[in-house]
Amino acid sequence: GGVHTDQRHDSAHKHVTGEAIYIDDMPEPRGTLHGCLGLSTVAHGKMVKIDLAAVRTAPGVVDVLTAKDVPGVNDISPTGRHDEPVLAEGVVQFYGQPIFCVIAQTREQARRACKLAKIEYEELPFVVDIGGLDVEKDKLVTPNLTLTRGDAAEAIRKAPRRLKGQVRNGGQDHFYLEGQISMAVPGEDGDVTIYCSTQHPSEVQHMVGHALGVPSHAVTIEIRRMGGGFGGKETQGNQFAALAAIAAKKLGRAVKIRPDRDDDMTATGKRHDFLIDYEIGFDDEGNILGVEFTYGARCGFSSDLSGPVTDRALFHCDNAYFYPAVKAVSAPFYTNTVSNTAFRGFGGPQGMIGAERIIDEVAFATGKDPLEIRRKNFYGTTDRNVTPYHQTVEDNIIHRIFDELEQSADYDGRRREIRAFNNNSRFIKRGLAITPVKFGISFTATHYNQAGALVHVYTDGSVHLNHGGTEMGQGLNTKVAQVVAEEFQIDIDQVKITATTTGKVPNTSATAASSGADLNGMAAQDGARQIKARLIDFAAEKWNVEKDQVVFLPNRVRIGNQEIPFGELIKLAYFARIQLSAAGFYKTPKIHWDRAKGQGRPFYYYAYGAACAEVSVDVLTGEYMVERVDILHETGRSLNKALDLGQIEGAFIQGMGWLTTEELWWDAKGRLRTFAPSTYKIPLASDRPKIFNVTLADWSENRENTVYKSKAVGEPPFMLGMAVYHALTDAVASVADHKLHPQLDAPATPERVLMAIERLKAAR
Ligand code: MTE
Ligand code: MOS
Repeated sequence: GGVHTDQRHDSAHKHVTGEAIYIDDMPEPRGTLHGCLGLSTVAHGKMVKIDLAAVRTAPGVVDVLTAKDVPGVNDISPTGRHDEPVLAEGVVQFYGQPIFCVIAQTREQARRACKLAKIEYEELPFVVDIGGLDVEKDKLVTPNLTLTRGDAAEAIRKAPRRLKGQVRNGGQDHFYLEGQISMAVPGEDGDVTIYCSTQHPSEVQHMVGHALGVPSHAVTIEIRRMGGGFGGKETQGNQFAALAAIAAKKLGRAVKIRPDRDDDMTATGKRHDFLIDYEIGFDDEGNILGVEFTYGARCGFSSDLSGPVTDRALFHCDNAYFYPAVKAVSAPFYTNTVSNTAFRGFGGPQGMIGAERIIDEVAFATGKDPLEIRRKNFYGTTDRNVTPYHQTVEDNIIHRIFDELEQSADYDGRRREIRAFNNNSRFIKRGLAITPVKFGISFTATHYNQAGALVHVYTDGSVHLNHGGTEMGQGLNTKVAQVVAEEFQIDIDQVKITATTTGKVPNTSATAASSGADLNGMAAQDGARQIKARLIDFAAEKWNVEKDQVVFLPNRVRIGNQEIPFGELIKLAYFARIQLSAAGFYKTPKIHWDRAKGQGRPFYYYAYGAACAEVSVDVLTGEYMVERVDILHETGRSLNKALDLGQIEGAFIQGMGWLTTEELWWDAKGRLRTFAPSTYKIPLASDRPKIFNVTLADWSENRENTVYKSKAVGEPPFMLGMAVYHALTDAVASVADHKLHPQLDAPATPERVLMAIERLKAAR
């Protein structure tokens, strides 16, 4: 039951049978009321008149909250910039911004009442798109970042060849199966407990505390599991929790808020879409000599996490490539749209789009296979290994990953076969691409890289485990339980995984940046080891043996020459008054980051992988299919290969969806028109690759001292989806004999693919 075993997800059966309890499945306290948010209907405007009379008298309505009802600070901005109100006051800054909150007997009554509001606006100028915005002149939501190494402008000027371009990539809705939800239950002394679907219980606790004007000790947040978060529940749950708590305290009743899918998609933040400008200098062989990037991002009306997200985009503007001279600038633009937020990869995927685009550009310009250009420009293992942020890449294994995948996917043979096929096929063109991933692991805010855990051993030898991480389907709880089972050498069913609560482990970080198992696994290990050390001291003394004569074996302990069951030792230790509970703690070593200088070691290590994708495109319609995908990805010495493979498969498909079918579309009034599954297309089962080979690089091992030498897995494989995007580029390029770069923006919907084909045909 310990580490490196394929334990199934602790809730796998419950997920599929429906027995897993999500917040909306919990029994509601007697008299529970339900909230619904009233949203703005202009992108930017002064509210000159708010008439809620009809809302207040609608059937079932108990109360209607507006900004005036916020007892503390009307702000839930996670960065403390004070730029994100719980409820809009005076002005609204995006179409769909919450203005009021109806509390009614039933959710249906609350929803119906919302529609009766009459709000008059004096409309103000607004910005929806970031095209044409200027980082020097236009409004930013947070100070931008510049990374430089060497003199990029000079290197480009001196290079034998140069080119300039721009690539756009769209945003992405999280589309978690379980939407946002909070249920607040009032307690004594004005305390409140909130069951909130959140990746960041401590932050919800702080935000609710501020909004209520009470200390953190008066607010408890609990979450057993989320039905998916994907970054969308890192900060976006704050609003629902704050409103549920305000209403619950005001009315002395439990209050639940669960927006419907349309409202969830309209009123909560998404992945940032980016517009990337690039200029590169290179030689005839395809060696990159100098690069300049500007990464413009649509951040929405408030800062939220846009600072760290756009920073991480710059941290991944290199992907796996060495740039001899580089300058990269972020442009976190203010727009009158919902405030964008964390989403798997946290800006990293958007950063890599820039890197892979310039590789393609160089390949087309020099007439070489993109694979050759990729390999040529990879980071070295002993030299050419300094990143744009001056961290040395010490653990580079991309060469081996690429070589093995190229072989196992038979890239060369299929490349020849596809060229021949395309020459003889008028309407169906196939494309092939192989793309790398190198993803930095750690929160770039250094202080976030800490975690706590609480381990209790009961007198029967069973273990109660709690840690600061949250379970969102990724299998974190199973992995952390495996660590504790390993330490005590007990069966995994002896370890009870319990709901995350701010009352047990305080001041936690978001479960994010893929670091859940790295951080909480180590904290739990620390807790278990403290108890173990006490047990060893106790046994050595009681049986009069050396400490190294006390050895934990499966479900038993050897003390000198005799063995006793684990539970027996625990019972004896209890009678001897040995403390059988411990708080574990961990902080990541070695990392530091100086944002002002743009230098440091923000990442403890990197995670690597590569994907090879083959697509077929109908050149008359732009429709396509993913024929085959081969993936080779590493997770160090995997804590649990079954869970890791699940993460890789899911992340790849989600990444593919981002770059192919998922399109967010705002109209001229700044209204998001793709706010439901009818218009927003996530991948379906039928969109998966027809052949899908996913392999873990079982030879990999983390050279750093992570939990049992494993590596993080949550986000890195998301970016393997780029292989599909580049295979589409390859297929499109075949209509003009690979002479012209298709300049395909993402998402590469069938419409965009068709337009690129038509452009190429016209220019041919
Ligand atoms: N897997 C599932 N099933 N559901 C999710 O919501 N979120 C992803 C990833 N895998 C997610 C998931 C994101 S964005 C992150 S940061 C990590 O899981 C967080 O968990 P970890 O740090 O424990 O890997
Ligand atoms: Mo993941 S975007 O770091 O929650």
